[in-house]
Amino acid sequence: MTARIIDGAAIAALSLSRTAAGAAEFRAQSGVVPGLVVIIVGEHPASQVYVRNKRKACLELGWFSEIRAMHAAAAQVEIETVIDELNEDPRVHGILLQLPLPQGLSEQALLERIRPEKDVDGFHPVNVGKLSLGLPAPVPCTPLGIQRLLMEEGIETRGRFAVIIGRSNLVGKPVAQLLMRKGAGGDATVCVCHSRSEGLPDIVRRADILIAAIGQPRFVKGSWIKSGAVVIDVGINRVDDPAAPKGSRLVGDVDFEEARDAASAITPVPGGVGPMTIAMLLHNTLECAKTALQNS
Ligand code: GUN
Repeated sequence: MTARIIDGAAIAALSLSRTAAGAAEFRAQSGVVPGLVVIIVGEHPASQVYVRNKRKACLELGWFSEIRAMHAAAAQVEIETVIDELNEDPRVHGILLQLPLPQGLSEQALLERIRPEKDVDGFHPVNVGKLSLGLPAPVPCTPLGIQRLLMEEGIETRGRFAVIIGRSNLVGKPVAQLLMRKGAGGDATVCVCHSRSEGLPDIVRRADILIAAIGQPRFVKGSWIKSGAVVIDVGINRVDDPAAPKGSRLVGDVDFEEARDAASAITPVPGGVGPMTIAMLLHNTLECAKTALQNS
């Protein structure tokens, strides 16, 4: 079997166009333009690219967006002051603190400083708790994007055995919550594995749906993939490649060429899950803007 390659860029474009239409309708009714501010601390090269792309996506829809770039040596209290100001700013419906932060800062305290109603990442403990309880709240963008990809591709999750490799707060844990939730895009039997899991290849061999989010290049081998499985690769790893123009290239957490022969569908890296993250960020920003209006 040669897998169908899931076109994340196309599905993200479709999702963005729906969000754009929803925002236009919301603006016509309320006069409100959604607004997103991204805080970046320091000069992490990949983060700088991600942050610029987030702002660009907002501006393309005519939304309000700013980047608050802070010095790598910024003190905790300085970042807290910026967050406090944005919490009070009525133009700002979403606040995103780009991770990772430079060492020495308390990431958790800063994430908790963002008002849950403006937490477009869904990282505040209130929103993490709501996701776990099945209550409406902003859901982390990458997990939401993964669920959307599966639904748009017509991949049934109900009753299927979904194996997740990686237990991070960003991806592994929230995607497990989404897939086990009742209803469309959920109802899966979920198994969360990680670096300490014993017999990982044999667990993965049982997966109808595999989600790899472990951050190690080509960690998952083709021989681990059950014939006909769906493979969602969340990894973005830069590896040396003398044949590539830049001397390096991006690969996922799955050996794509090997897995492609066994899977029925697979996401590429780049162009799979990545574009969905931004699309879901804009979706969450619009939802936060709607909630702000309801609560005003
Ligand atoms: N760094 C990598 N991915 C993310 C994300 O989804 N949100 C934030 N805030 N930082 C990230």
